[in-house]
Amino acid sequence: MSLKQVMSALAVSSVLSLPALASDYLDTFTSFSDENKDTKTRVIFVPEGTAVELPEWSGSDVNAVNRAAEIEEFKGEASQLTTVIAPEGTKANHLLLAGVGDPAELSRFEAEKLGASIAAALKPELESVVFDTRLISNPGIAAELSSHIAHGIDLRNYRFDRYQSEPKERPQTAYHWLVKSPDMAEKKYLASRAIAEGVFVARDITALPGSDGYPEAIVKLAQEAMKDLNIELTIVTPEQVDEMGMGLLKSVSQGSQHGSYLLAAHYKGSNADPIALVGKGNTFDTGGYNLKTSSSSILRMQTDKAGAGAVIGAVMALAAQEAPVNVVAVAPLSHNLISGSATLPGDVVKAGDGTLVEIANTDAEGRLILGDGNWYANDKFKPRAIANIATLTGSKVGALGTGYAALFASEDDLRSAIIEAGNVTGEKVWELPLEGYDGIIDSPLADIRNIGSPGTQAGAAFLKHFAGDTPWIHIDMAADAMVSSDTGIHPAGPTGFGVRLLTEWVHQLEN
Ligand code: BES
Ligand code: MN
Ligand code: ZN
Repeated sequence: MSLKQVMSALAVSSVLSLPALASDYLDTFTSFSDENKDTKTRVIFVPEGTAVELPEWSGSDVNAVNRAAEIEEFKGEASQLTTVIAPEGTKANHLLLAGVGDPAELSRFEAEKLGASIAAALKPELESVVFDTRLISNPGIAAELSSHIAHGIDLRNYRFDRYQSEPKERPQTAYHWLVKSPDMAEKKYLASRAIAEGVFVARDITALPGSDGYPEAIVKLAQEAMKDLNIELTIVTPEQVDEMGMGLLKSVSQGSQHGSYLLAAHYKGSNADPIALVGKGNTFDTGGYNLKTSSSSILRMQTDKAGAGAVIGAVMALAAQEAPVNVVAVAPLSHNLISGSATLPGDVVKAGDGTLVEIANTDAEGRLILGDGNWYANDKFKPRAIANIATLTGSKVGALGTGYAALFASEDDLRSAIIEAGNVTGEKVWELPLEGYDGIIDSPLADIRNIGSPGTQAGAAFLKHFAGDTPWIHIDMAADAMVSSDTGIHPAGPTGFGVRLLTEWVHQLEN
């Protein structure tokens, strides 16, 4: 059996009735057992201040390992990593000592980051590794930590390598988790694996180059990725976008050979009113006639579809978890190019809801497609809340950089849930005010215009107009879609930002 077949067999026979996670993304295989195995490399999780001592070791083995740990100043502090030569009593070459501090206190995100640094420390060609949790005395805590650490390992092991003729080696390792409660650990792991698969889809969507990842191609990718999940997919074609009057969405692709689509992916795991996640899927942003004129501003604008990736990935994750939630991803998809038929600065366009919009700047296109996306979500799904997520404004990057996404929220309960979700997942948000900025998108010509100052607030005000009275939040994730070097749970490349955040937000709201 290939690793992939083993993985899907594991998922099918698991305690959770999750759909098979036949992943094309990872060549690793993760299993949980209370039986020890011999491998060349063993990772031992060490609580702070605990002697490193395994039952199968002799007294001199224990002395040798603890002497080595002391020389390396390894104390078991959270996220400390030290490699030592294995003592004779362990049939291994190397031990990787991994500090967990006080295991009851190690947060989910810290555990995920520990997993990522372990993944980075292990050679990709290792055949198998044992993760030994026997020094963590509480079996429930050990199971929980194992699932978080394993999640961090998975997130770090993703590679966007489909454009490499000889892909640099992906990790090919069988990971054996030695835990006292393997069923509990596996159940938690499979729930986080569902999230990881959503992150991987979001990363793929984000990273696809602009000429390959145009709107229709993203529709096909999403269709393929979702085919085994309990998701009702609606595809609105360019002709239907036109017929339905979504002039804003249509206008952004008018200069491209690839027309605008809209995709709605509905997972109905409860009878509550749905939560709509509406993500920006601008598959490439040249700026249009307000052309991005510096090489650094236009390069990597294929990542302008990361918001669509986030909402698609989040709904996939919730569906794969069979979570008791009702959630729909709405992804307007456009290709902001120039030609003789492209929208001109100053054109006036009619939105789905009838608003007449002055397109004062063709580079402020995200709010246009999301405006119609919000109208569509309200009109078709009558949601109890709308979340927008988008690589929306350069001014967000100026204000917050990449450590935080900007948050706008109309309602206290939605706000506190997203802030909490940000803290839990490490995809942090920081709220900016919208109060007191009335009139920033007023137009001298039409009903409203698509720009204003300050830039991040103007984008938010525009989106809020089209959310109407529906409780609403907006996450401006500009510059959070990609990292240029390996950072924690992210290998260099697309991050899938928003999948973990939105998944957790929806869970929080349903609790
Ligand atoms: N996709 C960009 C925002 C962006 C900038 C994302 C940098 C990631 C990194 C968006 O469509 C855009 O061009 N925004 C303009 C709007 C302006 C012309 C009103 C901006 O913020 O500069
Ligand atoms: Mn733009
Ligand atoms: Zn854009």
